[in-house]
Amino acid sequence: MTKPQEQAKIVCVVGTRPEAVKMAPVILALQREPWAQVRVLATGQHRQMLDQVLQAFGITADIDLDMMQPNQDLTSLTARMLTAMDRVLKVEQPSAVLAQGDTTTVMVAALASFYLHIPFGHVEAGLRTGDLRRPFPEEMNRVMAGRLAQWHFAPTESARQNLAREGITDEVYVTGNTVIDALQQVAAHTPASEAHEGRRLVLVTMHRRESFGGPLEEACNAIRTLVDAYPDVEVLYPVHRNPNVLGPVEKLLGGHPRIRLVEPLDYVPFVAAMKSAYLVLTDSGGVQEEAPALAKPVLVMREETERPEAVAAGVVQLVGTDAQKIVGAARRLLDDPAAYRAMAKGVSPYGDGKAAGRIVDVLRRYAGH
Ligand code: UD1
Ligand code: UDP
Repeated sequence: MTKPQEQAKIVCVVGTRPEAVKMAPVILALQREPWAQVRVLATGQHRQMLDQVLQAFGITADIDLDMMQPNQDLTSLTARMLTAMDRVLKVEQPSAVLAQGDTTTVMVAALASFYLHIPFGHVEAGLRTGDLRRPFPEEMNRVMAGRLAQWHFAPTESARQNLAREGITDEVYVTGNTVIDALQQVAAHTPASEAHEGRRLVLVTMHRRESFGGPLEEACNAIRTLVDAYPDVEVLYPVHRNPNVLGPVEKLLGGHPRIRLVEPLDYVPFVAAMKSAYLVLTDSGGVQEEAPALAKPVLVMREETERPEAVAAGVVQLVGTDAQKIVGAARRLLDDPAAYRAMAKGVSPYGDGKAAGRIVDVLRRYAGH
């Protein structure tokens, strides 16, 4: 415990695009606290896609491990990162380490902190599908981070219950999801991007490891079928830089006049694209949380989701990765205004935009202020 009036050094770890989005509100809120000395540690698990988001929020990394290698595999990424993280934390000797979510970066940050007896705070704790293969390896990363954390910042009540089922009941705080804080900060001054020739925009993203190969091909086939069936539909697909995604997507969807394959968008233009979308097709975690808050129906192209709240609220539909099922669900929303309206409600089960403040409150008490 830090003595009153002393600054507590808090290392905030970010590695990939979604972590930067969801940690940005926490980092910015901590930077406003006089008792906190914030150090931003970028692992660089992602390079361009991490930098894009940090820039959007005006955040500069104090330390950058620059880990990314082309088509990196999980074991070598983990091993390299654990060694580098250990070295940095030994030098920094922070009062606490924070990281968000379920990536390799988060699991490594939790483990390295544990080995050095540094308290670890897990932002977005407690999400589970219950299936260690899906999402892979994220489900296990989250379980491990949960086991290693001192503070669990659960975004929803059902995430808190998941932790309780694993016997984790101490220092669990239901805060809301910081993604809504980030979205609100940007969406308030970001207009929708212009619709093209009055067409309906379908926004697509897909990147999960368990979708590589067959499921990704099914999704691409579904997208092509839909665009061909609806002359008033246009697809915008910012393609993830992972070569296991980029290659097949360019092969299966490239060259179509109404399918725009673009590089990953900066966060502000991506929010603008979500705002202007008629419909969102995705396997992303963050997009599943953001689009409903912007009243956009989401079809999740996965077999399971660790984010059941929006499905229960009727604003997200889990459609799987079978092309016919994806097409069927999208057709319903494109053809039936009542079905569309029922999903475009603007319900946000993931937070009120004040999650970062609640996380900071917990850390402030810990720091003795
Ligand atoms: C990672 C996370 C996943 C998260 C996703 C968010 C793990 C194991 N996976 O998946 O949970 O949902 O980020 O997008 O932690 N690449 C670039 N530039 C970039 C980013 C990636 O070229 O800015 C390419 C590189 O070839 C890299 C590859 O994508 O090796 C894979 O990156 P990696 O972080 O291992 O996996 P993701 O699929 O991005
Ligand atoms: N996003 C972005 N540009 C894009 C696509 C997504 O800024 O071209 C943002 C999106 O708004 C969300 C986050 O990236 O906040 C989601 O990241 P991703 O889908 O890569 O990871 P996941 O959330 O599935 O872990």
